[in-house]
Amino acid sequence: MLDLATRGEFARHRRLRRSEGLRRLVAETRLSPSDFVYPLFVTHGSAVREEIPSMPGQFRISIDQIEAEARELAGLDIPAVLLFGLPSHKDPDGSEAYDDSGIVQEAVRAFKRATPDLVVITDVCLCEYTSHGHCGIIVNGEVDNDRSLDLLARTAVSHARAGADIVAPSDMMDGRVAVIRDELDAADFPSTPIMAYSAKYASAFYGPFREAADSTPQFGDRRGYQMDPPNAREALLEIEDDIGEGADIVMVKPALAYLDVLTRARDEFDVPIAAYNVSGEYAMVRAAEANGWIDGPRVTMEILTAIKRAGADVIITYFAKDAARWLRNAR
Ligand code: PBG
Repeated sequence: MLDLATRGEFARHRRLRRSEGLRRLVAETRLSPSDFVYPLFVTHGSAVREEIPSMPGQFRISIDQIEAEARELAGLDIPAVLLFGLPSHKDPDGSEAYDDSGIVQEAVRAFKRATPDLVVITDVCLCEYTSHGHCGIIVNGEVDNDRSLDLLARTAVSHARAGADIVAPSDMMDGRVAVIRDELDAADFPSTPIMAYSAKYASAFYGPFREAADSTPQFGDRRGYQMDPPNAREALLEIEDDIGEGADIVMVKPALAYLDVLTRARDEFDVPIAAYNVSGEYAMVRAAEANGWIDGPRVTMEILTAIKRAGADVIITYFAKDAARWLRNAR
C-alpha cells in the first residue's frame, strides 16, 4: 500500500482536512448573515410576544415590539425580514390583506421608522386573511385563479404604499407576477422588486406555519394550486414564466427536500434565487434537539450550508438570528 502512495497512484484528499485553518482556507461555501432573511409573524394588540408552540424560539409579536426586533436584526447584520400578518378579522375576500391600515402595512411602517436600511419584504397572499383559509377567492367551491389576481395585486400595491422594499407573492395563482408588476407600475412603484414564490410545492412541511399564521384551509387542501412534489422539470417552467412576467428574485420552497430543484434552477437561470427553509424543517431540528437526539447548532449550520451549496443566494430561515450569532461567535 505504501508503495502505491509513494508512486502517486492515489491522491491524499485528507491533506487539506488536517486542521481547522486548512479546512477554512479551502471551504467552497461560506455562510454569512448577509445570506439570511428572517420570517416574522405580526399580530394586533399590544405587548404581545407569544411563542408559537410548534416553533420553539419563534414568536408572534405586536407592532410595539417591532422597534426592538428591528434593532436586534440590524445588530446581527441580518439584511432583511419577511412579514406575515394575523388579521383582526377574516372574511371570504380576505379584505384585511389589502387594507392600507392592515396589520402588515402597519408593521412595514414600524420597521421603516425603526431601521430604514433593513429590507422589508412582505408575503403577498390571502390565506391568512380569508375565512376559508385558501390563497385566493372561492367560486363554485374552487379557488378561482383569475378572480384572485386583482386582490393579490391590490395587496402588493398596498404593501408598496406602506413602504415595503420587496413584495413576495406566495399564492401560486397563474399570472400573478404579471398582474402585480402591471399594477405596481401603474401605481407609480416601478422600482419595487418582486420576489416570486415560483416553485412552491404543496408540502406537509408547512404544518407549523399554518398553526403560527392560523391559515389552515377550512376545506380541501392546496394541491390544486401549489406544485406536486414529484415534479422538478415543471418547477423550471414555473420559474421561467415568473421571470418572463417580471419576477426579480425567484424562490424554491421548501428547501431541504427540494435541493435538486434548487440546483437545477441555479444551473438554468441567472436571476437571484431564494430558498425557503420552512417551518416544518425548523420544527424537526428543534424537536430532535430538545430530545437530545442531535446537536442542534451543528445540524442547523449543516442544513444552511447545504442550501447555499445547492445554489441559493438568499436563505429565508427561522434560524437566521441563531445562525448569525453562531457565525459571529465562531470568529
Ligand atoms: C402562505 C404561505 C405559507 C408559507 C409561506 N407563505 C403557507 C402555505 O402555503 O400553506 C409557509 C412557510 C413555512 O412553512 O415556514 N401561502
